[in-house]
Amino acid sequence: MAPFTFTAILFFSLLQLTSGALTIATGQTLVSETQVFELGFFRPGNSTKTFLGIWYKAIPATVVWVANRNNPISNSQRVVFTVSANGTLLISRDGAAIWSANPSAAASRPSVRLLETGNLVVVDEAIEGCGYLWQSFDFPTDTWLSGMKLVDDRDTGVSTNLTSWRNWDDPSPGDFVAKIENDGLPEMVVYRGTRKRLRTGKWNGLSFSGLPRFRSSVSKAELVFKEDRLISLAMPYESSIIIRARLDLSGSVYHYVMNPGRDKWNPVYPFPRDQCDEYGHCGPNGLCTIEKSQSCECFRGFVPKFPNQWELQDWSGGCLRISALSCESGDGFVEVRGVKSPDLLSYWLNTTMTLDQCKDECLKNCSCSACANPYITNGGSGCLMWFGDLLDTRDLPAANGFQNIYIRVPLSQLDSTSNLEKKKAPISLILISIATGVIVTTFINRALLLLTRWKKRALKRNNEDIELPLIKMTTIVQATNNFSHENVLGVGGFGPVYKGNLSAGEEIAVKRLSKSSRQGLEEFKNEVVLIAKLQHRNLVRLLGCCIEGEEMMLIYEYLENKSLDRFVFDPDRRKLLTWPKRFDIIMGITRGMLYLHHDSRLKIIHRDLKTSNILLDASLNPKISDFGLARTFEEDQSISRTRRVIGTYGYMAPEYAFHGKFSVKSDIYSLGVVLLEIISGKKNSGFQYNDHHSLLGHAWVLWKEKRIMEVMDHCLKGTCDETQVKRCIHVGLLCVQKLAEDRPIMPSVALMLATEGRILPDPEEPGFFMEGSCRRSNLQSCATSPPSMNATLTITDLEAR
Ligand SMILES: *[C@@H]1O[C@H](CO)[C@@H](O)[C@H](O)[C@H]1NC(C)=O
Ligand SMILES: *[C@@H]1O[C@H](CO)[C@@H](O)[C@H](O)[C@H]1NC(C)=O
Ligand SMILES: *[C@@H]1O[C@H](CO)[C@@H](O)[C@H](O)[C@H]1NC(C)=O
Ligand SMILES: *[C@@H]1O[C@H](CO)[C@@H](O)[C@H](O)[C@H]1NC(C)=O
Ligand SMILES: *[C@@H]1O[C@H](CO)[C@@H](O)[C@H](O)[C@H]1NC(C)=O
Repeated sequence: MAPFTFTAILFFSLLQLTSGALTIATGQTLVSETQVFELGFFRPGNSTKTFLGIWYKAIPATVVWVANRNNPISNSQRVVFTVSANGTLLISRDGAAIWSANPSAAASRPSVRLLETGNLVVVDEAIEGCGYLWQSFDFPTDTWLSGMKLVDDRDTGVSTNLTSWRNWDDPSPGDFVAKIENDGLPEMVVYRGTRKRLRTGKWNGLSFSGLPRFRSSVSKAELVFKEDRLISLAMPYESSIIIRARLDLSGSVYHYVMNPGRDKWNPVYPFPRDQCDEYGHCGPNGLCTIEKSQSCECFRGFVPKFPNQWELQDWSGGCLRISALSCESGDGFVEVRGVKSPDLLSYWLNTTMTLDQCKDECLKNCSCSACANPYITNGGSGCLMWFGDLLDTRDLPAANGFQNIYIRVPLSQLDSTSNLEKKKAPISLILISIATGVIVTTFINRALLLLTRWKKRALKRNNEDIELPLIKMTTIVQATNNFSHENVLGVGGFGPVYKGNLSAGEEIAVKRLSKSSRQGLEEFKNEVVLIAKLQHRNLVRLLGCCIEGEEMMLIYEYLENKSLDRFVFDPDRRKLLTWPKRFDIIMGITRGMLYLHHDSRLKIIHRDLKTSNILLDASLNPKISDFGLARTFEEDQSISRTRRVIGTYGYMAPEYAFHGKFSVKSDIYSLGVVLLEIISGKKNSGFQYNDHHSLLGHAWVLWKEKRIMEVMDHCLKGTCDETQVKRCIHVGLLCVQKLAEDRPIMPSVALMLATEGRILPDPEEPGFFMEGSCRRSNLQSCATSPPSMNATLTITDLEAR
């Protein structure tokens, strides 16, 4: 059913609105470049009021955003939508404002665009590429589009929600609000006024405990955490699939996909799915079990509070304990497997304790009624204790990860049920497994993995046992979906990297080493064992390797925020990296490099340090990847000249690029480039600005002109600490000096970055190995550097002379 009708007749459409030049009146629209979205004035349903909104051009009845939902226009004559000279968006009649939106900063050349994602943005053409001054995605109405983030970020003060329409012809805010909630453990909650209506269940490291299929069904949801807080949740934008989610008038959230014929919506994922998703459906201490004829039951050790009502299927009264907890004289636990865990009404959380410690702690506190591991990855971790009633628990037997909870009961109750419980659990599990057919493979695989781990073949070196799990090829093939194209995370100098999901839920990154020019098996193993010994919190952890036939693969931990370049160079994501965060990242990289060069026994030279080789964990902590790999390609480490240059244009020190001479000082050069890229938000290679052909050249000129702060990313203006920024740029310039002997070593770099008020030496001119600098350096190798060199291209086969 199409609940909206349109009164506006569309005369013509525009692609962009520039201040002063044009306005949109009723009857005119702005369309996105791909013709998917359209912005204009409309009247919903039988309403006599006019609103400015965005809808799908192919299905105009589907309005996804309303600007003036609180400021309806009764008479649409002479009403126009404009952007003023300072970037303010305005709906006005005869100069009188009806609605306005102020950009975050005054713009000098504002322009308004409707992006292909359906995001209406104000950009300043004077500082292109530095994000948006205002975007409708920051002010969602009732619809969540792919590419839009729901945010709850204390640090920036940004918090967004979806608010339902009041009525089918009235877009003003209705009763229902959907938002991220971050008390203790994050989840999504739909409220009706102040009362909860739906919740997804807490994030358990793998999914929301009440929406186990969340990740796969809503395509690849992107979650960003900061110190265990979920600060944003998004469906990444994909142009090939038109998807939206809407909080409807009844407070339900529906996901829809547009059919290929582009004339209708197919609902793909309703929430609530059934009555068990309704908040507190079974009352306190009740368990909702949709698969049984009676949908509510009491936990073991509990009985219905109002048995008569319970008989009549009125579950609201919930359940009571049969006998009170004994506290002093001892209680035990009943395990309930595969549930959406109870709401955290009154709770205690510790993220590091084990389950046994948690149970002990729970038994110590008389008001503790249940406990569980809040995180189910890696076998479970942390301690969550509930006090008082357990509300809104449902069973989810076919979950791909199990959230189990442990309900505390007096020993008397335990005796009568525990044996039963213990025997029953595995049997019911197997039954479920057979029924779904999915979990069976999960268990077989987990068993296989455990077996391989258990049978770890110890690879020996220096009379020391270093154990590195050998992982079977079949496991890797399955985890990466047979090295499917879709799983490729990136292609590095040593071969492609795939994302893998072990069926036990663990995520991994698989580096499949290219076959060409590789050393023998024994040497490879030895090297891998050496790399595995390098452990530092700013280095990516090597979990195992796989050697079968021709194939050699390294298995690493998977880091969910992928690589730093995805943030630093992205107009949108870069805003997540405030100056304090960037400084943390710089210090983390420095500590990692200090360890590689000096503190580890091996003294590793990285040889391919670059921004895309810095990975970020869930809290945006940096971890260096690909270290030590260059060694596996070398015959003799005592010679610091190599036939083969392994590195990336833009990051390579001149002596390394031209003469194949590598040393810790060539790594320092790369580090300097990375520092300057992090601070400026610009790539060294491919950088073009006022005749400078590289970021280094640009920074050098600004240094000489004493305008060095101008190197800094515009987006950092609000958060930067000027002396810290200056110091970092200064150290960056010291690192990229032309002569290797002038560059500092890692301990000095760390000291210079960390100590305030230190007098730093003046840098000499940077060494360039960039396209534009060939004239200057006048070196033969310039010929081998194609002018169109891609900034991220990694070269392994450049023969140095
Ligand atoms: C909207 O208007 C149509 C035609 O006048 C009428 O049939 C319909 O009942 C109205 N709907 C509502 C909800 O008032
Ligand atoms: C921008 O201009 C509008 C009208 O042109 C004015 O109302 C508003 O105050 C201005 N905003 C700023 C930040 O100067
Ligand atoms: C939802 O967002 C709107 C608009 O930003 C805000 O006014 C409202 O207070 C928010 N509601 C809740 C419950 O957070
Ligand atoms: C969590 O528990 C561990 C182990 O008992 C303890 O060392 C740590 O201090 C606790 N953390 C918090 C925040 O209570
Ligand atoms: C039990 O835990 C609650 C919540 O942390 C706390 O307020 C209470 O003091 C604890 N009781 C005991 C006996 O430790």
